[in-house]
Amino acid sequence: MNANPNLNALEVGFDIPARPGMSEAEIQTPCLILDLDALERNIRRMGDYARNHGMRLRVHGKMHKSVDVAKLQERLGGATGICCQKVSEAEVFARGGIRDILVSNQVRDPAKIDRLARLPKLGARTIVCIDDLANVAELSAAAQRHGVTLECLVEIDCGAGRCGVTTAAEVVALARAVKAAPRLRFTGIQAYQGAMQHLELYADRKAKLDLAIAQVKEAVAALKAAGIACELVTGGGTGSYYFESASGVYNELQCGSYAFMDADYGRILDSDGRRIDQGEWENALFILTSVMSHVKPGRAICDAGLKAQSVDSGLPVVFGRSDVKYVKCSDEHGVIEDPEGRLRVNDRLRLVPGHCDPTCNVHDWYVGVRGGRVEVLWPVSARGKAY
Ligand SMILES: Cc1ncc(COP(=O)(O)O)c(C=O)c1O
Repeated sequence: MNANPNLNALEVGFDIPARPGMSEAEIQTPCLILDLDALERNIRRMGDYARNHGMRLRVHGKMHKSVDVAKLQERLGGATGICCQKVSEAEVFARGGIRDILVSNQVRDPAKIDRLARLPKLGARTIVCIDDLANVAELSAAAQRHGVTLECLVEIDCGAGRCGVTTAAEVVALARAVKAAPRLRFTGIQAYQGAMQHLELYADRKAKLDLAIAQVKEAVAALKAAGIACELVTGGGTGSYYFESASGVYNELQCGSYAFMDADYGRILDSDGRRIDQGEWENALFILTSVMSHVKPGRAICDAGLKAQSVDSGLPVVFGRSDVKYVKCSDEHGVIEDPEGRLRVNDRLRLVPGHCDPTCNVHDWYVGVRGGRVEVLWPVSARGKAY
């Protein structure tokens, strides 16, 4: 059932939202629930896609921050490793037994570089992104200090406008420096186009990715001309993975949100003009909330407010109901329009969060449900690991 040793300790204090075997109606709210059937279908679907297109799948752990979900992605979806954005997240996954970890970000603080260089000692292949020659020396020094090998990907800014170099010449210069640095290994290129993933139209997303692919191809050709082998070209998200897979230059995907889905991602359209949450992916993550007050006509108040979710990408959507609408929130309250007066105190609603990643980060537990019953309780293992 659940291998997490913390669970038994916490059960003593009843400080958990649910127990395996309970009915969904008994879960304490607000809390995150996972529809395990939908989750497993999403995980299998992406795994099949990657395998059928000859792509490695390195799922992004920043989305769920859960060792249990990552292991399910390995078992059911053929995931070959995980991405993290932070060293602290990577530590949690390495301790949890994930053996191939890419920190898809820059690590510059000396203390964090030191922690990064300890990860291989936990048995994890450790890969990190670089975009600056000075960082090469810092990483090499830490790897030598700890007697480990750190692998490096040169990050290309292919449109996201955050970290990464922009020219093929810079890519080659960094790759050369890595190859010359003791205890570092040049492994390839990181090129995630983060700015186009949520564009509504497929054609608009494709136009952005075409530019990214051209940039990556130029860099790979320049590496080849310089005689430098490039094992990995990695990137791709839930709104773009089919473009990277067809590119002929990427060989690894790093999608995250497909597994849970959220309201904002769900609105983008596939090549047939269909919302991606109506066919391609299923909503597997919900905030379960209860009505706690209904003393005013047309308006119910539920117990999931700002502290139960992130609303940076819009308010949550009430799942499966068009008669009620979540319209506003404050710290601990959510306001639900109920024009026909259908809701009663203690009624339960499933909310699809606006943005899954930062919503998961504010919860301790995933309650996995199947057929109306709680099957598992999984900790949000890297919850709050933002450093
Ligand atoms: C570097 C990187 N790779 C992959 C992803 C996963 O993208 P998505 O959740 O869109 O699938 C993200 C998400 O922000 C990311 O920052």
